[in-house]
Amino acid sequence: MDPRQSQGRTVIRAGRVIDPSQSIDRVDDVTIVDGRIESVGPAAERPDRTIDAGGLIVCPGLIDMHVHLREPGGEEQETIETGTRAAAGGGFTAVACMPNTKPPIDNVDTLRAVLDKARSGAHCRVYPVAAMTVGQRGQVPVDMPALKAAGAIAFSDDGIGLDDDRVARAVFDRARPCDALLIQHCEVAALSAGGCVNQGRIAEQLGVAGIDPRAETEMLARDLDLLRGSPVRYHVAHVSTERAVDLVRRGKAEGLPVTAEVTVHHLALTEDAVLRQGANAKMKPPLRTEADVAACRRGLCDGTIDCIATDHAPHTAEAKERGLRDAPFGVVGLETAWPVSWGVLVETGRLDPAGLIDRMSCQPARILGLSDQGTLAAGTVADVTMLDATASWVLSANSLISKSNNSPFIGRHLVGRCVATLVAGVCRYVAEGSEGRFAQPG
Ligand code: DOR
Repeated sequence: MDPRQSQGRTVIRAGRVIDPSQSIDRVDDVTIVDGRIESVGPAAERPDRTIDAGGLIVCPGLIDMHVHLREPGGEEQETIETGTRAAAGGGFTAVACMPNTKPPIDNVDTLRAVLDKARSGAHCRVYPVAAMTVGQRGQVPVDMPALKAAGAIAFSDDGIGLDDDRVARAVFDRARPCDALLIQHCEVAALSAGGCVNQGRIAEQLGVAGIDPRAETEMLARDLDLLRGSPVRYHVAHVSTERAVDLVRRGKAEGLPVTAEVTVHHLALTEDAVLRQGANAKMKPPLRTEADVAACRRGLCDGTIDCIATDHAPHTAEAKERGLRDAPFGVVGLETAWPVSWGVLVETGRLDPAGLIDRMSCQPARILGLSDQGTLAAGTVADVTMLDATASWVLSANSLISKSNNSPFIGRHLVGRCVATLVAGVCRYVAEGSEGRFAQPG
């Protein structure tokens, strides 16, 4: 059987189907007809092909709203092809990719080039995020209506905070009439300049400059103020501090249109990881204190933080070997997001499996406005992830699909693994050794 076949009737048989969007958590079949979900329930008709999901979780495809695919301009780190292959391998059926490419995605031509590449060579859906300002220079807002019409899912200068209050106001003003989603990388440059890890104990121990946590919270507080005057859809990227979680909580309580994400690494690691992993634990915002990690976990579980993202940020080994001070910021995360989150949140009893799937699929779909995704409802696209919640493995650098291997989780014992990823009913990834599940007779 060809796992890439999408036409006809496919039955994913006898998996533990978890679809938080319909409050489903039971062993059942999922029937797909011509790339769309037909039903969750005992398969009625004889299918053209069967996928054996015995012992596996079957859920709406995972969605990562914060990924760096590096193309154009950073192909030595990642390409749309390798990054989406890594995404499919991690169980993701859709990713939103950030515009800090070379050149940045700040105009319709560059955006179209990314979309064209994705159409011809991606292994999952790709939704480009366009820059907020021309060249991501923080001075002139981009042409949002034109970029949105050409397919930009959101706007962000990710990697850089939008420092200038006047420009921030202009960006908000431009976003409102076209109902654009803004994704803010909250970082006041004056409070982070020169720093490479969190300000405090570890920075002092290593004798390096620290990044003040207020770099994040001051920009967030400023933006929440702007939202009070002029509401726009506003999403906070990679929340990392206790105070930022509090600010989002209060903003939501006030009714502001704010959503937020936390990365897997900010849920799993404290700043101490830098001592063990060096530059592979260097990213922006930096890993923080135990109190911050606890606040991020609490915020995610109580709904203050809406979803989990990876901020998959590939960098070459050569660049990361420059040492903590000089290495670039960022870590890869697409292939470890599910098992690391599972370990931190589900194995510890903080969330049930449906809660985790909600935050890795349903919520990102809602924030991005992808109403056909993050669900197994009848009639929606058959983006489906199959996961083995018991697979136990140790992450090694050379097992990663991504072109880069700058992961802080190398050597870590992980539980849980993606077995298969279907996009519009087409199998885009099958784990080695699981091909037999696709060879069942109808
Ligand atoms: O660590 C990071 N790396 N944070 C960002 O915001 C940007 C990213 C990158 O592009 O490498």
